[in-house]
Amino acid sequence: MNLEMSHATFGVRPPVTKPIPEFLLEVSEEGLRELISKHYDAIKESDIYHLFPQEAQAFEQAKVNSADFFIQICGGPAYFNTNRGAPRMVGRHAPFVIDAKARQTWLELYKPLILELKEQGVTETSLKSFWGYIDIFSIWMINTQ
Ligand code: HEM
Repeated sequence: MNLEMSHATFGVRPPVTKPIPEFLLEVSEEGLRELISKHYDAIKESDIYHLFPQEAQAFEQAKVNSADFFIQICGGPAYFNTNRGAPRMVGRHAPFVIDAKARQTWLELYKPLILELKEQGVTETSLKSFWGYIDIFSIWMINTQ
């Protein structure tokens, strides 16, 4: 499966398409929470870990908040709105120094996890739709040149 990373031009926010509903139906809420948890665990071993909460409990809570958002954007219950309020993703990321390299690392860490889901039988169409979403929306989070 070909997971290509789009080039990011600073200050340009390309139009985003949400993942197709089949993605969440196939992966399930629990599976999506597991995906986010594994992504955060991979972040812990990466050079962008310094951006994230260093205290164990806060780090685990970050996983929950993030999974709440992803379930919501993938068509599930509005957990994030309920627990955290309006998403305002760009604003919420503003306090953190995120450059093109950080975005690349963040996105790259999803690749093996998406391939793992493919092995588990999630369709390529669904996985590509999820990848397309994070590929483009992660460009929006870049706030530093
Ligand atoms: C471009 C690379 C990205 C980096 C380096 C990054 C980094 C971060 C950091 C440092 C936090 C704060 C952790 C915390 O204290 O809770 C965070 C939170 C979060 N991020 Fe990202 N992020 C990136 C992209 C994205 C993308 C593309 C999405 C959504 C598609 C996203 C969704 C979230 C959510 C939902 C939260 C929790 C916000 C909250 O509960 O207040 N992030 N991110």
